[in-house]
Amino acid sequence: MHFKLNNGVKMPMLGLGVSQIAPDTDGIGVVLAALEAGYRAFDTAEFYGNEDMVGEGIRQSGIAREEIFVTTKVHNEAQRAENGAFEAFERSLKNLGLDYIDLYLIHWPVPGRYIQTYKALEKIYKSGRARAIGVCNCKIHHLQELEKIWEIPAAVNQYEHHPFLTQKEILEYCQKKEILVTAYCPQGRGRLGLHENPVITALAAKYNKTPAQIILRWNMDIGVSAIPKTVNHARLKENIDIFDFQLTDDDITAINALNTGTRVIRDPDDLTGY
Ligand SMILES: NC(=O)c1ccc[n+]([C@@H]2O[C@H](COP(=O)([O-])OP(=O)(O)OC[C@H]3O[C@@H](n4cnc5c(N)ncnc54)[C@H](OP(=O)(O)O)[C@@H]3O)[C@@H](O)[C@H]2O)c1
Repeated sequence: MHFKLNNGVKMPMLGLGVSQIAPDTDGIGVVLAALEAGYRAFDTAEFYGNEDMVGEGIRQSGIAREEIFVTTKVHNEAQRAENGAFEAFERSLKNLGLDYIDLYLIHWPVPGRYIQTYKALEKIYKSGRARAIGVCNCKIHHLQELEKIWEIPAAVNQYEHHPFLTQKEILEYCQKKEILVTAYCPQGRGRLGLHENPVITALAAKYNKTPAQIILRWNMDIGVSAIPKTVNHARLKENIDIFDFQLTDDDITAINALNTGTRVIRDPDDLTGY
């Protein structure tokens, strides 16, 4: 199951996020188990320190490279350095052991730097070594600044998105501009009590699914891709087993109404010291 990006590239609707999957745990085993369970997309970043683990898992699986969608990101320190984005891209390719990236993203809109970084990403895209480019953590004002300079519109805006943080205005803005939204922290990193929320648990009972599955399905049904993280092999399977049902409009409205604006991760407008 795919979403089509604004440049025609197909991206799996669901991928495995690998932040905090440490290379010294059985990270390669997690990547292999994910591929076995049917995942064909991985979301990593140079900052996570585990691009090599993703690349190694893909190689060990024997699955053709072109069947797998790999996303990685340029972090803040690299954005602040002269030529830093180009160098970071080379490092990511080397870490992954790949000769192209499917989606290369700006990790955070570093004030005074992200416009320059985006221009670097456009050059990388034109070189053919990133099949799509985009951003993370961009609010509407960031996107409006980028729109003034970009030749190649961002294909994706990846940001924190879950039932307690729906960010309706940004979502509508992105969808109007054909920028695919990817939900990070779709489960609120397991810290917000989303799985115990009565609206979510009632829908889980209604569809004979788990709360985590209801939340992921809600993303799919509103046109948002998601990259839940888990190291647990049973939960890997659970999280991708969401393509045999659909929520109704009323279910979606009930989940949307849970929004409280609660964040797990920092507000992108405050990158002080980061
Ligand atoms: N662009 C950015 O700035 C940015 C920022 C944050 C995250 N991300 C990306 O988004 C990905 C996902 O976000 P995240 O890892 O922060 O949070 P998340 O996916 O919302 O939550 C992960 C937590 O939920 C648990 N979990 C996963 N599936 C579950 C299930 N079916 N039932 C119960 N618990 C479950 C996991 O525990 P177990 O592992 O024990 O299963 C883990 O503790 C990251 O890995 C990363 O790739 C991007």
